Amino acid sequence: MSLPPGFLDELTSRTSLSQIVGRKVSWDARKSKQSKGDMWAPCPFHQEKTASFHVDDRKGVYYCFGCHAKGNVFTFLQDTENVSFMEAVEILSREAGMQVPKRDPEAQQKADRRTQLAEVMDQAVQHYRLKLKAGAGAAARDYLSGRGLSEEAVTRWEIGFAPNERRNLFTHLTGKGVGADLVIDAGLAVRPDDGGTPYDRFRDRIIFPIRDPRGVAVALAGRAMDPNAYAKYLNSPETELFDKGRCLYNHGPARRAAGKAPLIVAEGYMDVIALVEAGFEATVAPMGTAVTEQQLRLVWQMHDEPVIALDGDEAGFRAAGRLAELSLPLLEAGKSLRFCMMPEGMDPDDLIRAGGSAAMQRRVKESLPLLQLLWRRETEGKSFDGPERRATLDRTLRAAIARVQDPSLRRHYNDEIFHLMRSLSDARRPARRKGFRHGAGWPGQVAGPMAATKTSALVSADARAHEHLKEAVILASLVTHPGIVPRFVADLEQLDTTRPEHEAVRRALLEVEDSGREAVEASCGSQALEKLFRSRHVRIAPAMRPGADEEFVALAVTKEFENLAAKRGARKDIQEAMQDIKGDADESLTYRLSEAAQTLTGSDRAAAEDETEYEVGPNGARMNRKERSELDALIEGLNYEKSRGRT
Ligand code: UTP
Ligand code: MN
Repeated sequence: MSLPPGFLDELTSRTSLSQIVGRKVSWDARKSKQSKGDMWAPCPFHQEKTASFHVDDRKGVYYCFGCHAKGNVFTFLQDTENVSFMEAVEILSREAGMQVPKRDPEAQQKADRRTQLAEVMDQAVQHYRLKLKAGAGAAARDYLSGRGLSEEAVTRWEIGFAPNERRNLFTHLTGKGVGADLVIDAGLAVRPDDGGTPYDRFRDRIIFPIRDPRGVAVALAGRAMDPNAYAKYLNSPETELFDKGRCLYNHGPARRAAGKAPLIVAEGYMDVIALVEAGFEATVAPMGTAVTEQQLRLVWQMHDEPVIALDGDEAGFRAAGRLAELSLPLLEAGKSLRFCMMPEGMDPDDLIRAGGSAAMQRRVKESLPLLQLLWRRETEGKSFDGPERRATLDRTLRAAIARVQDPSLRRHYNDEIFHLMRSLSDARRPARRKGFRHGAGWPGQVAGPMAATKTSALVSADARAHEHLKEAVILASLVTHPGIVPRFVADLEQLDTTRPEHEAVRRALLEVEDSGREAVEASCGSQALEKLFRSRHVRIAPAMRPGADEEFVALAVTKEFENLAAKRGARKDIQEAMQDIKGDADESLTYRLSEAAQTLTGSDRAAAEDETEYEVGPNGARMNRKERSELDALIEGLNYEKSRGRT
């Protein structure tokens, strides 16, 4: 897969992203500026009516402001056409009239060797299939039909049988002129430590060939029929063809079927076979080990929300939990997992045999979203009577969610945790809650609304005002120092402005970039700029000083952007918590508030330190103290409320 240097650059430069994307979307003609390669459309990756999907044709990248899908022309093809990276390269090369170059000699040699190994693997598959049909395969045939596999299924899955002989396959292959080393390197035979004659790896086992997505047989799995055999399944060792952490059973067919059907990830080979035979064609399984990060990524390439159907036992549930944990830092908007709960002691194969595909269908339909699984894992069979226990649970879940990288997704999950925590409290104290709601005989009755009013004022007025000032300084600095604008395009794109005149300046800056103040003014009108520069805060900002150093201004703007982002995150957290405060106020809530308060005051403190360096105005500092004390008072109020018997 190693392409010569420069090939991809050349290919990218000959390809128009908007043209490729244009086949999948209808552009918003009013919002798009074709001449600038600035194109907008409703997002092809999520359902929407507005045009949040942005293509920057010059940079060759896209970004959706709704679902945060982002990437380049290769990822776009991979995701919309369900193809691999190299397949995307091939498609684009063809369109661009470029030849995908031949590999370098070393790579060529490696490819030749892989071809040889693949041929040996194929010979082995065919040999074992014949053996299943031969006399020695009678018991194996009985075993398979006993497990409900039809002859067609046996053919379709290319199931074979390795006779109970020390050198059945080895003799067959070497007899046909295949070198002993090749048989060993394919993982089909083992050379004893003493260097004696190699012997077959698979003996007296049912053979399941494992093919890569292109259909190359890369490994075998052998199932013992004897329940006392030393291992139920024996897999090929890792070879030049077989990287077990990157391999999925039934990958190719599942990829073709995905999109039309839910994608299921099962635990075992027989589960995959049973599921596919029952009509769940898009099913894969890992290679007898836990699902790896690479396998998860492969699965997500096929489907945004695969359904994990692990065995209905302790081990299966634990494996599901581990997979959920593994997935957290990898989650992106739109990508998730669902977990299909199997009946106690059953795997998908058992369930289908017992209840048919309808039974499985029902389980798939009722599968749990990722967060629900984490919740179950932490709560099932446990009691959450005391506030301390609930607080611990809340912390555990939030610590897990903290590993989600995507900020909006993280917020969404934190929200859900909050609601789950609340439902837990509700379930514990239905009567009290009711009393509180209706304000009857409740000691904290007054504290609730008061706290809410106080804080909503805090988050909406003061914090917003402070943000407004920061925003103004950022925008004015950029207007005054056009040279640094290109560095902040991404930040500007994400900036969620507080006022219409700021929005106008923001858009103008994005449009004219480094063309200077006059160009900005031409684009947004003089009124918006006047308003911006009228503020005292802006006038005393260091960037406005005559002859301010550009690098210094850039640094200040970077800090302001960071500070603003931190503040908004914290403000949103407080706001969300406040929305629920009338309904409930327990440990989890105060915990969240103190966290958010820390972020808010913490980022302010950092800002105040910065500001002493380059800001004369007293504005920020005063606001900080006020915010902090209001929050402290709020938290104190809540604790008081609690000590009066609320929990
Ligand atoms: P299971 O023990 O759940 O088996 O192992 P299964 O898939 O239900 O198989 P049947 O129905 O008994 O035939 C799940 C998977 O774990 C791996 C295999 O990939 C198997 O499909 N495994 C299991 C091994 O690699 N070695 C073993 O000894 C057992
Ligand atoms: Mn099974």
